Amino acid sequence: MSFRIQPAPAARPNRCQLFGPGSRPAIFEKMAASAADVINLDLEDSVAPDDKQEARKNVITALQDIDWGNKTLSVRVNALDTHYWYRDLIELVEHAGDRLDQIMIPKVGCAEDLYAVDALVTAAERSTGRERPLDFEIIIETAAGLANVNSIAAATPRLKAMSLGAADYAASMGMQTTGIGGTQEGYYMHAPDSSQHFADPWHSVTVAIVAACRTNGILPVDGPFGDFSDDAGFTAQARRSATLGMVGKWAIHPKQVSLANEVFTPSEAQLAEAQDILAAMEEAKSSGQGAAVYKGRLIDLASIRQAEVIVAQSELISG
Ligand code: COA
Ligand code: MG
Repeated sequence: MSFRIQPAPAARPNRCQLFGPGSRPAIFEKMAASAADVINLDLEDSVAPDDKQEARKNVITALQDIDWGNKTLSVRVNALDTHYWYRDLIELVEHAGDRLDQIMIPKVGCAEDLYAVDALVTAAERSTGRERPLDFEIIIETAAGLANVNSIAAATPRLKAMSLGAADYAASMGMQTTGIGGTQEGYYMHAPDSSQHFADPWHSVTVAIVAACRTNGILPVDGPFGDFSDDAGFTAQARRSATLGMVGKWAIHPKQVSLANEVFTPSEAQLAEAQDILAAMEEAKSSGQGAAVYKGRLIDLASIRQAEVIVAQSELISG
């Protein structure tokens, strides 16, 4: 560990973020009734240009009228390369009310993007007298976003979560695929015995996001998985993300919510093993040992920190 202690991210469950177009108010009650920890009402790419204004109104009304329980409520605004974003922000801050927790900013490419949004939101909050500052979450989904991910992660204390946006990321990187997340046909290893196995083209950007997030106390989140008829593919992608340190995944269809919740909730077996490791290390410490053997494998002081991650996740989720 460096002299600088790694800051803790926001202590709230973020296993699943359920998205819905702001132009489709008929599904808002269903979103509120879902088991998602976070709700993302969208003003960006799921809303057609002619519907942008109407979607803003729908979202502002829904934030106030619907009982969202204890969910984290977030609205995805339009990106800074459009002319919609400033009015999205001003209308949200002026009219959405205190129930809105967070704003999601897409296609962030540099720290200055967040400086600009922070400046506007801060001025609007002061002018309206909003007491609880809005949190930000962002999407890394461009080449510039990946190249600048570390300075973006440190850009503002409002920033609480960061997602990987696979579709725009693939487009920006010039990747030869139309798939949104998951296994890609062209990305395979050819073994000496001529068998093929598929590798993960999202691996390196996922690790970059997790590292930038963990350094700065931000929740790293896996983004959309487009083929919502492929439950096994979704689960495999989610498990890889969880294994690499992400805390949750988006759902772009309600059937993905339970899949994400299952992967990002430590199982009883994982929790029991973590507790056993902690107990075994307590015993080792009391007999003056820093290392011990657990089920035939080495455990030492680092194993305590690993086990504590799982216990803490479990406690956070069980509330
Ligand atoms: N949240 C909550 N409920 C939803 C929903 C969502 N995002 N999407 C669909 N539903 C509801 C439908 O209203 C339907 O309800 P019913 O059984 O009461 O009639 C049920 O879930 C099944 O829906 P289905 O017919 O399978 O899907 P659809 O064709 O209505 O919609 C999508 C499919 C993908 C267009 C829709 O899920 C959607 O808009 N997803 C979010 C897209 C988005 O926000 N993208 C931006 C982030 S990438
Ligand atoms: Mg996008």
